[in-house]
Amino acid sequence: MTAQPLFAPAPPGYEPVPARVLTGIETLPCDLYIWRGPRPILYATKGGDLRKVVARAQRGMSFLVREIDSDLLRGALAASLPRVLANRRLTPIERSKTAYSIVAKVLAPIFARENPLDRDGLLLTHQAIDAITAHLLQDEDMVWAMLATMQKHMATHTHAINTAVYATVLARFMQFGPPEVIRDVARGSLLHDIGKNRIPRVVLDKPAALDASEWQVMRSHVKAGHDMIVRALGYPPSYVHIIGEHHERCDGSGYPAGRTASGIALDAQLVGIVDAFDALTSRRPYRSPVTAFDALHVMRVAMRGQFNDEILREFIKLLGGFNALSGGIEGGDLAGVMQVAG
Ligand SMILES: [Fe+2]
Repeated sequence: MTAQPLFAPAPPGYEPVPARVLTGIETLPCDLYIWRGPRPILYATKGGDLRKVVARAQRGMSFLVREIDSDLLRGALAASLPRVLANRRLTPIERSKTAYSIVAKVLAPIFARENPLDRDGLLLTHQAIDAITAHLLQDEDMVWAMLATMQKHMATHTHAINTAVYATVLARFMQFGPPEVIRDVARGSLLHDIGKNRIPRVVLDKPAALDASEWQVMRSHVKAGHDMIVRALGYPPSYVHIIGEHHERCDGSGYPAGRTASGIALDAQLVGIVDAFDALTSRRPYRSPVTAFDALHVMRVAMRGQFNDEILREFIKLLGGFNALSGGIEGGDLAGVMQVAG
């Protein structure tokens, strides 16, 4: 599996930053460059008023920052999310697209294979997803906008964001618990597959069925992810069981422990459902996305018994309502979903 780039290419030592992701930052945290010739040219200096820079930028314009400034930028981006999400001058769809791009930018290096997960990176991840969760809990328009603007190609961090959005919206819809419970659902679902960056590419990207030994390796992403989180923080956070249990299945067919329904936390069961749905409905290099209807049909019929019936039924209701309001999600045709739910 080769992830499609979310951002434009950049010369060595620099990374691209689309102007639209900067809209919530007021003061430039680092120098900003443009790339028009052989070398990047300094465009605006650290400490400057970024709102003026962004106001001058043409639509679709992209800047560069030096890679050594990447952490400064990502910190400022994560901190800007509440402002972007609350910006009523933008439509919910525009706010959602911008927030999605910001979270993708913040997460990309944290989910990259070559970087170890450290405490600062993990806390930045919490900060970014908590801003989204807080907003989704109070802003109905953003719920629909975020469902409508998901990017359905299967890069690890876009799958992570999609899973977190579905899980948060479903938990909200089901009144799953108080805000701190939903916050943990969001954090756990965002990080559920973080252990995949410890799986060799030859296994992770294999465009065909895995053999028994490759499956063994693939399954190790659950424990690897759990251990990475505990190691980075120095203690097990209250959401870490979601990472450990997201592949357990109610009928005992899951892994790593083969637990049955009563032994799997409900929030992990919820994340297992939206994880499977996003994986099925996302584009892979070796297959087209399955429609939302077909994905739900597979989960209800071919995978009967694996998922919590009540949570799956609520998810189908949620998506059915979304489809009726918005005309559907990419690759999805939810006509008849309610029959599947019945
Ligand atoms: Fe997984």
